Amino acid sequence: MKIIDASGAKIPAIGLGTYTLEGQDCVDMVARAIEIGYRHIDTAYMYGNEREVGEGIRKSGIAREELFVTSKVWWTDLAESDLLASARRSVETIGIGALDLLLIHWPNPDVALEESIDALCMTADQGLTQHVGVANFPSTLVDEASAMAARPLVCNQVEYHPFLSQEAVLSACRRHGMGLVAYSPIGRGGEVLNHPVIREAADRHGKSPAQIVLRWEIEQDGVGAIPRTSKPERLAENLDIFDFELTDDENAAITALTLRCERLINPSFAPHWDRA
Ligand SMILES: NC(=O)c1ccc[n+]([C@@H]2O[C@H](COP(=O)([O-])OP(=O)(O)OC[C@H]3O[C@@H](n4cnc5c(N)ncnc54)[C@H](OP(=O)(O)O)[C@@H]3O)[C@@H](O)[C@H]2O)c1
Repeated sequence: MKIIDASGAKIPAIGLGTYTLEGQDCVDMVARAIEIGYRHIDTAYMYGNEREVGEGIRKSGIAREELFVTSKVWWTDLAESDLLASARRSVETIGIGALDLLLIHWPNPDVALEESIDALCMTADQGLTQHVGVANFPSTLVDEASAMAARPLVCNQVEYHPFLSQEAVLSACRRHGMGLVAYSPIGRGGEVLNHPVIREAADRHGKSPAQIVLRWEIEQDGVGAIPRTSKPERLAENLDIFDFELTDDENAAITALTLRCERLINPSFAPHWDRA
């Protein structure tokens, strides 16, 4: 397993995304993922499944220090007292002790960035998390937040797949020693997996289209991915990407697709994104 080393945080390059997993299915999928080798689990207060994620982790029996667990504070909770309360609630709900990483889920222009970044850093000072970071921050916000943070922001979790360039965000992350964790990394299982460039590479390597896409992501310096599946058989598929390499030509052809700039996640409260 590739590990991203970001300002001291050691983030396993493949993690399990858990958005929409719920109830006993979520418990079982998290436990199963850990049993077959996942060492990074991604949840959020907004997903409403932190309790089940924690239960799955305990069910797996894994030693706490073997696992990297991320949660997130929702964008309406970024004032200092709200952010601290949200972090405490997440830690209590997951029930495995301090988190490895706590992220601001989306920026909120109505709360001063400095207030939320200060409060985020306080969560680590208070022992609620080992590391802190952000999600959905465009490059200028990454620069601003990094400049004001009292401790390193170790990652920016953003949408990233072969149909969406994140060149500006990736450069910003590298400037500040941050990892980029790709969400919706297989384009939500949609058109990207049918593109001839992806399908032909899959045929050449005897891999699935999802494996080609995930491999393209994790071959990039400082990039990880958190694919989500509700199907136990796909858990192993999405992890089994460490026994082959894409050629330079394949990498270049997949990277060329990113100019399509087809963003899948763009809610009304999204920030002004970087242009490709
Ligand atoms: N920070 C944020 O704002 C943010 C936003 C969105 C997501 N996230 C995180 O990122 C995670 C992943 O993103 P996502 O759920 O949006 O999208 P994704 O992981 O790109 O795609 C999930 C979809 O792909 C399908 N799939 C999974 N493995 C597959 C495979 N090997 N072959 C074909 N299809 C496959 C799944 O269907 P089946 O279930 O049927 O397998 C599901 O419909 C989330 O769960 C969440 O943890 C964060």
